Amino acid sequence: MGSFPRKFWFGSLHIAGLRPTMTLAQILKCDPSSVSFTPSGRLEISSPETLQSLQTAVRHLKSRHPVVFPTETVYGLGALALDPIASSLIFSTKGRPADNPLIVHVSSMQMLHRLIPNDFTIPHSYRVLMTRFWPGGLTLLFPSNSSIVPSVITAQQPTVAVRMPSHLIARALITLTDAPIAAPSANSSGTPSPTTAEHVFLDLGSKLGYILDGGPCAVGVESTVIDGLNEDGSIRVLRPGGVTVENIERVLKEDLPDDQHIPRVLVHRRDYSDEVLEAAPTTPGMKYRHYSPSVPVTLLMTISPPPTGVIPQDIHSYLTTLSSTPNTPSPTRVGVMFLTDSPLGTYHLPHLNSVEWHRYELGPKSDPSIAARRLFNGLLSLEREGVHTILIEEIEEVKEGLAVMNRVQKAATQSSWVYV
Ligand SMILES: *[C@@H]1O[C@H](CO)[C@@H](O)[C@H](O)[C@H]1NC(C)=O
Ligand SMILES: *[C@@H]1O[C@H](CO)[C@@H](O)[C@H](O)[C@H]1NC(C)=O
Repeated sequence: MGSFPRKFWFGSLHIAGLRPTMTLAQILKCDPSSVSFTPSGRLEISSPETLQSLQTAVRHLKSRHPVVFPTETVYGLGALALDPIASSLIFSTKGRPADNPLIVHVSSMQMLHRLIPNDFTIPHSYRVLMTRFWPGGLTLLFPSNSSIVPSVITAQQPTVAVRMPSHLIARALITLTDAPIAAPSANSSGTPSPTTAEHVFLDLGSKLGYILDGGPCAVGVESTVIDGLNEDGSIRVLRPGGVTVENIERVLKEDLPDDQHIPRVLVHRRDYSDEVLEAAPTTPGMKYRHYSPSVPVTLLMTISPPPTGVIPQDIHSYLTTLSSTPNTPSPTRVGVMFLTDSPLGTYHLPHLNSVEWHRYELGPKSDPSIAARRLFNGLLSLEREGVHTILIEEIEEVKEGLAVMNRVQKAATQSSWVYV
């Protein structure tokens, strides 16, 4: 008997101590507080465990295997950006076609310069934004040096999207690898972005070697992606995210030299639309509209006026009809995500025999950054609690609220207008 049947046999019996046929990812602990950079940019790591975890990840990356690592926005599925074979594995691990560009993560300006043509002059607006927001949650589009950056990264576009993350584990990993790392969010096709190592493990654990665990992500939504390479001089926000539009506008006003024209900041789908771009997305994160949990999500509109012909429903009657639709399980488990001081947050959910409420708070109205940090975690936790449907209350599109609503709209299967 050859080795195959034996291995198969043991694997299917799940005998403790024997090697299973399917290996699960190993979670390697990392302590971000043990990592620092000296003013001259030299990396120092005081925890031996963290150093060892990072070194294991670097070896794995260099042998062309993807590794999951924490960033301040969400967990990323990383691979050597300049190696087409390594970066192609990102797509097969995530289970999506290689038709969307990937963000390249760098840890220094020198690394950025390796990716772009030698004769490209970085615009003033970019310099100002990078000075304030790098390292951090801002991704900028640059012209790409196509003899360096593989087309699997750019999706055949002339541009490359680059970001310098601020999470110390991410920066340490890129610095030790000494090469740019491409990394989309570490979720499989169609699921929300992971903000903890545990989320990643549950989603992709059987498809990976290593997950670096650096704790929960501070920002919780992906980076803001901007394109400032336009002929009209505008800065176009292709994907709202961790860095708010308000802050981008403020920094441009405050920091651009006096002789420089202050560019207009335009948000895609709010201030302009681009059908060509929407049909063939050239930017990370634009393509997949529905990265939703496996349960239906309804956006409850409580602020925006309804479109003509739509009459808002009273919240009580809306909620009572939830469980009376044919084929709904009884009791129906309903996840409700809301801001604590919003109309829905201050409303007392009615006691109904046929409904079990699962509440998830998104923080106060005054600080939408909390909603950003909690959104994906909320969707994933409610899903794991086994809810049949999720209701998310509309939040105002200011500051981080813009990025939150952008993600909620992608996750939602429908919108309902209600009044409380
Ligand atoms: C692209 O990078 C290569 C290698 O560094 C360099 O030789 C070449 O001049 C660069 N191309 C452009 C257009 O700058
Ligand atoms: C993973 O999630 C992000 C945002 O949550 C989304 O942009 C992306 O499309 C999702 N990935 C896939 C492959 O669905």
